[in-house]
Amino acid sequence: MMNVLVTGGNGQLAMCLRDASKQLDDKKYHFTFISKDELNITNSVLVYNYLAEHPIDLVVNCAAYTQVDKAEENEDMAYRVNADAVQILAQETSAIGAGFIHISTDYVFNGEGDIPFSEEDVTDPRNVYGASKLKGEKFALENNPEAIIIRTAWVYSQYGNNFLKTMLRLFKTKEEISVVDDQLGTPTNANDIARAIIQIIISDNHFPGLYHFTNSGMASWYDFATKIKAFTGSSIKINPIPTSAYPTLAKRPHYSVLNTAKIQSTFGIEVPEWKESLRGLIDMELIA
Ligand SMILES: NC(=O)c1ccc[n+]([C@@H]2O[C@H](COP(=O)([O-])OP(=O)(O)OC[C@H]3O[C@@H](n4cnc5c(N)ncnc54)[C@H](OP(=O)(O)O)[C@@H]3O)[C@@H](O)[C@H]2O)c1
Repeated sequence: MMNVLVTGGNGQLAMCLRDASKQLDDKKYHFTFISKDELNITNSVLVYNYLAEHPIDLVVNCAAYTQVDKAEENEDMAYRVNADAVQILAQETSAIGAGFIHISTDYVFNGEGDIPFSEEDVTDPRNVYGASKLKGEKFALENNPEAIIIRTAWVYSQYGNNFLKTMLRLFKTKEEISVVDDQLGTPTNANDIARAIIQIIISDNHFPGLYHFTNSGMASWYDFATKIKAFTGSSIKINPIPTSAYPTLAKRPHYSVLNTAKIQSTFGIEVPEWKESLRGLIDMELIA
C-alpha cells in the first residue's frame, strides 16, 4: 500500500487529484487530502508531527499562495508559503524517505522570446509570485533528492477560482467584456494535470527532477475567452485589448508557453490539446 498525502486539499488542483485518484485500486493506493486548516505547511512543527504520526510514502504539495497580484503587497506571506514551507516539506519528506511532488509555475520565466520554454531554460521571474515559486523549486531540489517538480500554467477547472469560471460568470451578467490579447500561454485543464500526477505516481520508474506539463497549443487570454464563448453558445461581445489597457499590480510574462516533451518521453504522459480539453470540460456541465 502506498500512502499519499496531498497538501492544500481544498484547492482546485487537489480537488481534481481527488477525483482522478478514485480510478486507482484503493488496496494499493491510499490518498489523504489535507486542508490548510488541518495542516498549515508553513508550521514546521505541525509538518514534522504529522509525518511522524502517519505512515506517508509520498507528499504531493498542491498548497500555494496563488494570488499573483496580492503577492506584490504581501511578499512575506508569498515567500513563507511558496518557498519556506516547500523547504520544510522537502526536508521532512527526505528525513522519512518519502517522495515529494511539488507544483510550480510558468511565471518563473521572464516571458521574452517566442520558443516554448524547456526545463533547461534560464529562469528570470518578473513578479513576486514567480520569484517565490522559483525559490520553492530550489528548496525542493536541494532538500529532497527524490523531488519531482511539475511546472504548469493558466490552470482552470470546475473547482476554485479561475479564468473559465470568471468568464462563465461574466457571460451571465454582462453584454460586453474586454480581454487581454497580447499575453500568450497555454490554458491547462487541472484534471489533465491531475491525471499526469497519477501517472507519475503509478509509474514503475522514478525519475526525480524538473518537468513541464500544460495542455498543448498556444492562446491569448482573448483566444481562451473566445473559445469559452463558442463552446457555451454565449452571445456576449468580447473585445481584444492590450495589456497596457488592463494594468495589474504584478507584471505578467508576454509569452509563457512551456515545452512538455520531457514529461511525455519520461513518463509516457499524453498532453491533450487545450481547446479539446476545454470543450470536454464544458460539455460535462460540471460548472454551475
Ligand atoms: N492557478 C493557476 O493558474 C496556476 C498556474 C501555474 C501554477 N499553479 C500552481 O499549481 C498549484 C495548484 O494551484 P491551484 O490553482 O490549485 O491553487 P488554489 O486553488 O489557490 O489552491 C491552493 C491551496 O493551497 C492552500 N494553502 C495556502 N496556504 C497554505 C498553507 N500555508 N498551508 C496549507 N495550505 C495552504 C489554499 O488554501 P486557502 O484557499 O484556504 O488559502 C488552497 O486551498 C500551485 O502550486 C500553484 O502555484 C497554478
